[in-house]
Amino acid sequence: MLSLSVWRENKSAGEIAGQFNISFGAIWQHLGILRRAKVVRVEKKLAPFALFFEPQSRANLRDLRIARKRPPTIKGDSEFKCSYSMPNNIDVRAFSSKRDYERVVDYFLNADDQFLAGMGVRRNKLPPRKAWVDRIAADLELDDREKQSFFVAWLYNGEAVGHSNINSIKFGHQAHMHLHIWKPELRRSGLGVEFLTKSIDIYFARFLLSKLICEPWSQNAAPNRCLGKAGFRFVRCYTTIPSPINIELQANRYELTAEMWKNHLASIRKRSR
Ligand SMILES: CC(C)(COP(=O)(O)OP(=O)(O)OC[C@H]1O[C@@H](n2cnc3c(N)ncnc32)[C@H](O)[C@@H]1OP(=O)(O)O)[C@@H](O)C(=O)NCCC(=O)NCCS
Repeated sequence: MLSLSVWRENKSAGEIAGQFNISFGAIWQHLGILRRAKVVRVEKKLAPFALFFEPQSRANLRDLRIARKRPPTIKGDSEFKCSYSMPNNIDVRAFSSKRDYERVVDYFLNADDQFLAGMGVRRNKLPPRKAWVDRIAADLELDDREKQSFFVAWLYNGEAVGHSNINSIKFGHQAHMHLHIWKPELRRSGLGVEFLTKSIDIYFARFLLSKLICEPWSQNAAPNRCLGKAGFRFVRCYTTIPSPINIELQANRYELTAEMWKNHLASIRKRSR
C-alpha cells in the first residue's frame, strides 16, 4: 500500500427525463439485457410518470455508475496528451495551493486506526501536520524536472474527494503512484478506475515516464483490483516497507509501462467506437 508519499528521499441527469435515465440505466446495469439506446426511447415515453421513481438526491452517483458502464471516449490522436475524457461530473486537476496538501494530510490524520491499518499504515508513523504539509507542498513551486512528488485532486461535482500522487519521480523514467478516495461513501462506485485512468494519463504526459509503479498491500483488495482495471500488470509479491508511514508488509508490485499504457488507451478507444 501506499500511502502518501511525503518524503523526498522516499523510494519507494436532469430533471424528469434524467430520473428515468437513472432508473432504467440501473436495470440495464444489473440485468445486462437492455441497451442504453432502447432505454432512452422507453424513458421518453414514460417521462410523465417520473414522480413514481426515485428521488433526484442519488442521481449523480447513480448516473456515474451508468457512465462507468459506457466506454469512455478518447479525444484526439495524441497518445500521452491527457487524451482521456471523463464523465461530466468528475474531473482530475493538479494541486494548485497549500490547501490542497492540507486536505491530504487531514485525510490521514483524521482517519481512524482501523482504516489506517487496512492500508498498512500506523498512526505513530504519521508526521506532525505542519511539517508534513510543508514538506509535500514544497514541490508545488518546483519545475517538473525537479519535483520529488506530484499530486492531483480527484473532483466529484466540483468538490475534491480524493487524490493521487506520484513520488520518487525520476523525470523521463519512472515514478511510484498512490491513490485515495477520501469519502468512504464514494468508494466502490467506479470512481477509482475513472480517476486513476485520467491521473495516469497526466503522469505519463507531464513527466515523460517510461514506467509507473504501484505497490499496495496484498490484503487491500480495492487498489489491487483497481490497478488491474487501469492497465497495470502484477509483477511480484514481496516483503517491504513501501513508505515511511507503513509497517513492513507483503506488497504486490504492479507496473505499467508507456507501451502498455499506449495499448490500454487504444483498447479504451476501440471500445468507445
Ligand atoms: C483504492 C480506491 C481509490 C479504489 O477506488 P474505488 O472507487 O473504490 O474503486 P472502483 O469502484 O473503481 O472499483 C474498481 C474495482 O475494484 C473493486 N473493489 C473496489 N473496492 C473493493 C473492495 N473493498 N473489495 C473488493 N473489491 C473492491 C471493484 O469491485 C471494481 O472491480 P469490478 O469492476 O470488477 O467489480 C478506493 O477504494 C480507496 O480510496 N480506498 C481507500 C484508500 C486505499 O486503500 N488506497 C490504496 C492505498 S494503497
